[in-house]
Amino acid sequence: MDNSNANNATMTTAETKTALVTGSAKRVGAAIIQTLHRAGYNVIIHCRLSRQAADELAAELNLIRADSTKVIQGDLNNETIYNSLIEQAHACWNRLDVLVNNASSFFPTPLGSITLDDWNNLVNSNMKAPLFLSQAAAPYLKQVNGCIINMVDVHAQRPMKQHTVYCAAKAGLAMITQSLAKELGPDIRVNGVAPGAILWPAGDGAEGEMTEHTKNLILERTALKRPGQPIDIAKTILFLARDADYITGQIIAVDGGRTLNI
Ligand SMILES: NC(=O)c1ccc[n+]([C@@H]2O[C@H](COP(=O)([O-])OP(=O)(O)OC[C@H]3O[C@@H](n4cnc5c(N)ncnc54)[C@H](OP(=O)(O)O)[C@@H]3O)[C@@H](O)[C@H]2O)c1
Repeated sequence: MDNSNANNATMTTAETKTALVTGSAKRVGAAIIQTLHRAGYNVIIHCRLSRQAADELAAELNLIRADSTKVIQGDLNNETIYNSLIEQAHACWNRLDVLVNNASSFFPTPLGSITLDDWNNLVNSNMKAPLFLSQAAAPYLKQVNGCIINMVDVHAQRPMKQHTVYCAAKAGLAMITQSLAKELGPDIRVNGVAPGAILWPAGDGAEGEMTEHTKNLILERTALKRPGQPIDIAKTILFLARDADYITGQIIAVDGGRTLNI
């Protein structure tokens, strides 16, 4: 049996695998970065506004293992940077093994007030950028039998009221996951993770903020009666990246049973 993918932590520097995680300065993305790093990957943190948090996380990880973490920056609303982000990521260590499309904007779009800016913002980060970053990364991923992992959402399949644009963008991302898995096999695996309630939308007065009542309703309808943790997502990403050699085109719900009752 070929276990060549399984022991990344023991690989020599020349063989060290590299992972780019978009939107990974904070929250779930940062947990993915930390988990892949702990497993022996060299990691590339991508950020847009959270440069300071990205630099601090990189400094922390580079203290643990020198020259193991880099930061790249760019707004995924700007389609002209998609190719260059992948070029920068590849140039860090001259290889790219894993692309995690994690960056995402999230806010309600009640019908009657949806603007084209809302549409562009939500579609760009949640659907368009993942596709074009995947397209740019595919030649590099092919060289190393790498993989793409897309962060979807349980609401890609079941709508969330007043979030039509976000849900539609994530549904598009789910189809992109399956479609690319077909097109990029046998060289590249493409999978998705669909989180349920892991971290509530950023509580900084942002439009996406939820009331306590809404949070309680969501947890009441979750079989495990509690939110998940970023590490639950990160462990699934590591599994898909490192240990799931015969899995492609799948979207794994990590939702505490939420989809049983949405
Ligand atoms: N949290 C949950 O419970 C939950 C539930 C379902 C699905 N998900 C999915 O899981 C992933 C991670 O969730 P999260 O809550 O940790 O995400 P998040 O904090 O809402 O967003 C992650 C990062 O995305 C980046 N981002 C947003 N718009 C961007 C743009 N136009 N260009 C570049 N970067 C952009 C931001 O980077 P900067 O801060 O650097 O600007 C942000 O820090 C997302 O794909 C989300 O849809 C999460």
